[in-house]
Amino acid sequence: MPTRIVLCAREMHAPAWLEALRAALPDADLWWRDAAKLDADPLAPQADIAIVWRPPPALFEEQRRLRAVFNLGAGVDALLAMPAFPRDALLVRLEDAGMADALAEYVLAAVLRVYRGFDRYAIRQRDARWQAEVLRPRSNFTVGVLGLGVIGTAIARALAAHGFAVRGFARTRHTIEGVDCRAGDAEFASFLDGLDALASVLPLTADNRGILNRANLARLADGAHVINVGRGAHLVEADLLALLDEGKLGGATLDVFETEPLPADHPFWRRPEILITPHISAVTELEPSVAQIAEKIARLERGEAITGVVDLRRGY
Ligand code: GLV
Repeated sequence: MPTRIVLCAREMHAPAWLEALRAALPDADLWWRDAAKLDADPLAPQADIAIVWRPPPALFEEQRRLRAVFNLGAGVDALLAMPAFPRDALLVRLEDAGMADALAEYVLAAVLRVYRGFDRYAIRQRDARWQAEVLRPRSNFTVGVLGLGVIGTAIARALAAHGFAVRGFARTRHTIEGVDCRAGDAEFASFLDGLDALASVLPLTADNRGILNRANLARLADGAHVINVGRGAHLVEADLLALLDEGKLGGATLDVFETEPLPADHPFWRRPEILITPHISAVTELEPSVAQIAEKIARLERGEAITGVVDLRRGY
């Protein structure tokens, strides 16, 4: 029997994904379920594998025989929050698939903008103020990378290659050339202390919700900049606004928010020190994603182990 695969995704050009997946998995029986208009249909054909991006919870009420779920993204927090998500299925997230380079580029661009003072010049321009800043050596500008998976490691390497002083933090010890890696709760405060910029790329778990809060952000250098490309729920939004108002923090570059799209009346929109991007720091790329997923499905069919499987207890 061919492997039965349902593709259920939002914000994607379905025909192109179906064509690429069918070419990569010629023996599979593959069909599309539109994530934007899905009601659980008790008579729907049952798939062995689901390939998903932001599916509605109803997909998992409908599909009751899934052996594996492939997420077309890195973060799986939204899937794990769904009550009907099958806990006995393998949950597999994308590993890199072009996202690491894209995120390294985004964070490097944000850090360079802050380091060269472009964000401050943009604010002064509104008042026609001609005022130069003294530029510090890059080696005196310390950037922290919170989360050192494949993506965080790529970000830390890109920053270090650019001459910035880079500190990294993860729950477990990592070794990255040119990066001062700290690990575990005991070293978290010393990781944060005096950072000029902090980039968070953490996956969202029950343990790290709200980790970018007043107590932690207050440890950064005066005037520090916060970059969030992980998940919006890591940042306590009211704390960020208060620390900006108090002049403790200098600004923020935010790609992810507690509520997305960011509501039009959200105070962040009106803060010149906050640069908002609409969750675009890395988008899922068709070719490397399809190649990665097809390869993993083939391995599973041969009974081989695959990487990128989410540990449901850890949440990533
Ligand atoms: C995007 O946010 C992702 O999780 O891949």
